[in-house]
Amino acid sequence: MLVLGIETSCDETGIAVYDTVRGLLAQEVHTQAAMHADYGGVVPELASRDHIRRTLPLVECVLARAGVGLADLDAVAYTEGPGLAGALLVGASIAASLAYGLGVPAIGIHHLEGHLLSPLLSARPPAFPFVALLVSGGHTQLMRVEGVGAYALLGETADDAAGEAFDKTAQLLGLGYPGGPALAALADRGRPGRFKLPRPVIASGDLDFSFSGLKTAVATVVRGRALDDAARADLAAEFQEAIVDVLVAKSRAALATTGERRLVVAGGVGANRRLRERLDAAARADGFETFYPELDLCTDNGAMIALAGALRLAAPSAGRRGYAFTVRPRWDLADLPPA
Ligand code: KG4
Ligand code: ZN
Repeated sequence: MLVLGIETSCDETGIAVYDTVRGLLAQEVHTQAAMHADYGGVVPELASRDHIRRTLPLVECVLARAGVGLADLDAVAYTEGPGLAGALLVGASIAASLAYGLGVPAIGIHHLEGHLLSPLLSARPPAFPFVALLVSGGHTQLMRVEGVGAYALLGETADDAAGEAFDKTAQLLGLGYPGGPALAALADRGRPGRFKLPRPVIASGDLDFSFSGLKTAVATVVRGRALDDAARADLAAEFQEAIVDVLVAKSRAALATTGERRLVVAGGVGANRRLRERLDAAARADGFETFYPELDLCTDNGAMIALAGALRLAAPSAGRRGYAFTVRPRWDLADLPPA
């Protein structure tokens, strides 16, 4: 079965073709980061317009690289939510139109389900059940995943997501938008400990997070002080270590609470080298296994949407829903129907 995946929930146009037998055949991601950089954040109207320009040419490109034609597709999967309403509408309307024209199912996918299942695309996929640490720009959650569509929320952030904390702190350090990767690169040149930042709610006894205080603590250090390059690197390193300390502590606690032995890390912050290093060390100490998506599948992409579409299509409960479509800018993963 051949599934086209279309991801347009935010500032990346991600297109991919996934084959249930041969795996991922081709994928392309166009990022709008440069377009939004001048504004310090995503401008929704600009995002929608760019998705309109990019989606069909990228579909053609991906199909050509996969060596398949439109007529070979068995389904078209798209991100139904959560995300920016206008941006989601572009992907949803193109997906529904294509599917209608081809007479194949159009499948709306929850963006976070895509992230959660993305490690299944890797060379060493995890078996169910597992604990998932989902760390993106919009979400920070720990989840117990029993199978496709069977997700139990264990804990989540009360305020900023981990990626959001990286981006906001990067802005405080003058690294531009989106600053997560730049902040991580700066942190790798510095040393934690010279500045002291809090590890918010690390000892709260539950599996929840809170990262907005960290950004405020960085703002307090930066305010009224001219930091040289070495000091900025040390502050970045302390910030990264604080976030990683909390993510590692809560992941370990989630594994201990559930009794699971597998930890899957998904979402953009999952690309962070220090986080992976520390989780792997914890895994060796506690005797659990870690699973990461390939680096290019950590951030938003069409492959995870195509995969989730294929898995939903294969589920016994999969029914044809026609071609009327909706988007869900706010959509709780807990409201997702089981597969
Ligand atoms: O999953 P994603 O692409 O988009 C959302 O669904 O939000 O995640 C993007 C987030 C951004 O906040 C970005 O700064 C962060 O992931 N990010 C990183 C790294 N690479 C991306 N944060 C820390 N270290 C990285 N290497
Ligand atoms: Zn995402």
